Amino acid sequence: MYDSNPTIPSTEKVIDESLQGSAYGNELDVADVDSKKFYIESYGCQMNFSDSEIVASILSKSGFKPTRNIDNSDLILINTCSIREKAEETVRKRLKIFDAIKQQKPGLMVGVLGCMAERLKKKFLEEERLVDIVVGPDAYRDLPNLIDNAAEGEKGINVLLSREETYADISPVRLDNNGISAFISIMRGCDNMCSFCVVPFTRGRERSRDSFSIVAEAQDLFDKGYKEITLLGQNVDSYKWENPETNELVDFANLLEMCALVSPKLRVRFSTSHPKDITDQVLYTMKKYDNICKYIHLPVQSGNSRVLDLMNRTYDRDWYIQKVDRIYEIMPDCAISSDIIAGFCSETEEEHQDTLSIMDYANYSMSYMFFYSERPGTLAARKLTDDIPLETKKRRLQEVVEKQQTLSLQHNLKEIGKVYEILIEGDSKKSDLDFKGRNSQNKMTVFPKMEPYKKGDYVKVKILEASSATLKGEIVQ
Ligand code: 5AD
Ligand code: SF4
Repeated sequence: MYDSNPTIPSTEKVIDESLQGSAYGNELDVADVDSKKFYIESYGCQMNFSDSEIVASILSKSGFKPTRNIDNSDLILINTCSIREKAEETVRKRLKIFDAIKQQKPGLMVGVLGCMAERLKKKFLEEERLVDIVVGPDAYRDLPNLIDNAAEGEKGINVLLSREETYADISPVRLDNNGISAFISIMRGCDNMCSFCVVPFTRGRERSRDSFSIVAEAQDLFDKGYKEITLLGQNVDSYKWENPETNELVDFANLLEMCALVSPKLRVRFSTSHPKDITDQVLYTMKKYDNICKYIHLPVQSGNSRVLDLMNRTYDRDWYIQKVDRIYEIMPDCAISSDIIAGFCSETEEEHQDTLSIMDYANYSMSYMFFYSERPGTLAARKLTDDIPLETKKRRLQEVVEKQQTLSLQHNLKEIGKVYEILIEGDSKKSDLDFKGRNSQNKMTVFPKMEPYKKGDYVKVKILEASSATLKGEIVQ
C-alpha cells in the first residue's frame, strides 16, 4: 500500500518512508480570492492520499478551495497515519507547528483526519487544545457540518466507523498529481487482524465499492487524459461486490478485467495483495491483458512459519513459496515486491535468517522494510511481549535492507539490453533534458527526451545502465 516508487532507501529512509507528509493543493486562480481555503497534508499509505482527494471533493462542494500555501488557509487538515509509533510522532510535531500558526491567526481551524483521529478519538481534543475537529476515515461526509459547528466555537468529533461507507458516489478532486496516473479506492477497511496491525481498528470492517462506480471513475480518468490507474485497498484480492439488481458477484479478477477493458492504452495496477487471497484467476487475468501491469505487491512480513503464525498471517513459509512459484510460472516476467517486519515478538536469529532467505527465493524487485513497533490495542500488544531489543531490531532491519539492495541491483542489472514499453510520467527529477517513466514491472526508468514524445505517451526504451533504484536507457523506434 505504500509509496510505489521503487527506490531502495537507506535504513533511516525506510523507517521514515510512510511518514513523509505531502501537502496537496492547487494554486488559486483570481476568481478564487474570496473563497475559504483549506490546506491539507497527508501521511501514511496511498489510501490516505486517496482519502484526501475525497475530502477535497466534499469540501469543494461546500465552497472551500484547496491551497498549497498554509499561511493563506482558513482550515488546516492533517490526514494521519497510526501504523507505526514514528508516524504518530511526526503528526504530533506537525500539530505543534500548526498550533503556532493558529496563534498568529485567530479563526483559523485545525482538523485531524484519518487513522489517528479514529485511534485517539476524544483524547485528541483534550490533549491538543488547538485541534478543532477530529474526523475518522468513515465520517468525511460530516466534515462541512463539523466545520460549521467549529466556526461557532463548538469543537467537533465524528469517528464513527461504518459497515457501508465506500464514498462510491464521490468523484475525487485530483490533487497535486501528474495528470497521468491516479489512484482509485476500490474497498475500505480490513478484516484480516494481522496481530501487529492497527488498521482493522482504525479503518474498520472490510467493504467493497460498487464495481460500476469504479469502472466509471476509470473511464472518466481515461477521458481526461490519464493513462494509468492503481486500484487501492488493504487487501484487494478479497474484493467482492454483489450487484443488487442481478445478484451477480463481481470478484477482484472480474473487476481487473472490467478496468482493463476501459482501453488498452490505460494501464491498470493494484495494491495490496494478501498472499492468502490472490487467486490463479487473478494471475491469469493479469497474463491475458497487456495493460494489466506485471507487478504484484505481495507482503511476506516474515519468512518463518512460527513467526507468521504469531503474526496471524494465516499462511506459512511453504504456502508463500508456492504462491511465488505460481506467479513466476504463469508470468515469468512479473516483478514481486514485499513488506517486511524485522524483530517481531520473540523472533530468533535463525527465524530472522528465514526472512533473508525467503527474500532471495522470491527475488523481490523491491521491499518496504520496517522494524516492529508495538501498537496499542492490537492482538500482539495484548498477547505477545515486545521483547527484541531496539538495537537488535535495527541491526536485523539493516540486514534486510542490505539484502534488498543486493537483490534490487541484481534484478535491475538483468534488464540491461532489454527493451520495455515505458509510460512517460514527466521530466526526470535530476534533469529536464530527460524523461522518467515506469515499465510494466514498476521500475523507474530515465532516458533522454526525443521529439515528438511527450508526457503521457508510451515509448519503447532500451535499457543501457542500471543501479539498485533506477534504470537508464534510450528511446528506440
Ligand atoms: N510495526 C512495524 N511495521 C508494521 N506494519 C504494519 N504494522 C506494523 C507495526 N506494528 C507494516 C507491515 C505492513 C505495512 C503497511 O506496514 O509490513 O504491510
Ligand atoms: Fe493490517 Fe494485515 Fe489488514 Fe494489511 S492485511 S491492513 S497488515 S491487518
